[in-house]
Amino acid sequence: MTADSQGAARMRSSVPRRAGRQPRAAPKFSIMVIVFGLAGTPRPVLTLGMVETLITIRNARKGDAAEIADVHDAAWRDAYRGVIPGRELERMIARRGPKWWDAAIVRGSRLVVLDFDESIGGYASYGRNRVPSLPYQGEVFELYLAPEFQGLGFGRRLFQAARRDLSEHGYHTVLVWALADNDRALGFYERLGGKIVRRAQERFGGEMRDRVAFGFD
Ligand SMILES: CC(C)(COP(=O)(O)OP(=O)(O)OC[C@H]1O[C@@H](n2cnc3c(N)ncnc32)[C@H](O)[C@@H]1OP(=O)(O)O)[C@@H](O)C(=O)NCCC(=O)NCCS
Repeated sequence: MTADSQGAARMRSSVPRRAGRQPRAAPKFSIMVIVFGLAGTPRPVLTLGMVETLITIRNARKGDAAEIADVHDAAWRDAYRGVIPGRELERMIARRGPKWWDAAIVRGSRLVVLDFDESIGGYASYGRNRVPSLPYQGEVFELYLAPEFQGLGFGRRLFQAARRDLSEHGYHTVLVWALADNDRALGFYERLGGKIVRRAQERFGGEMRDRVAFGFD
């Protein structure tokens, strides 16, 4: 990805803070300066009594692991409660603690985060397509936003950032898997232009769940 590859946009908003996080200058009205693409350390800037919050999509770095684990935990509970059997869901979340994410960052996995005023609101991981029988080059493995960051256009931005990076590494076509019962994800990928190209099943403990693959050409 190139720095500021999509330029900057300004908008008014009041994105709520995540429970359990240190509140950082959470004004009722703020100006968010959004920079999508690789960027350096974001800094909120005080201007005329208002707080400008820099929002970036950047590569994950050492020190992000605990916050990514928090996002993973909140997003998975929100998306998969009642979809993935409860005990299995707890096991999957427990396995993806800060240590797991730290190891992923250290080994250089492709992982970008949505950095909102130095607090992480979502992430996307991606790489080479893992199903060679499907004619797609890249794959977005995971795309998750904490619940309070959903529905604001950040999912689209994270997906675009992942696609752009994949494309810059020669992976121009992309595959994404989603559980068939995850209506929000299905609606989102359809809206982004994905076409269902494969249906399959996945085992969770003793139970099977349907999943679908969206292809993006
Ligand atoms: C799925 C997810 C990544 C989408 O991100 P988001 O920030 O909520 O979505 P955006 O606001 O960027 O939406 C982008 C577009 O898709 C549309 N869209 C989003 N969800 C939709 C839905 N369920 N049905 C139809 N359209 C939808 C939006 O209206 C928007 O359209 P527009 O740009 O033309 O106005 C996010 O909601 C999320 O993290 N959900 C929980 C975890 C999850 O299910 N992840 C995917 C696992 S495979």
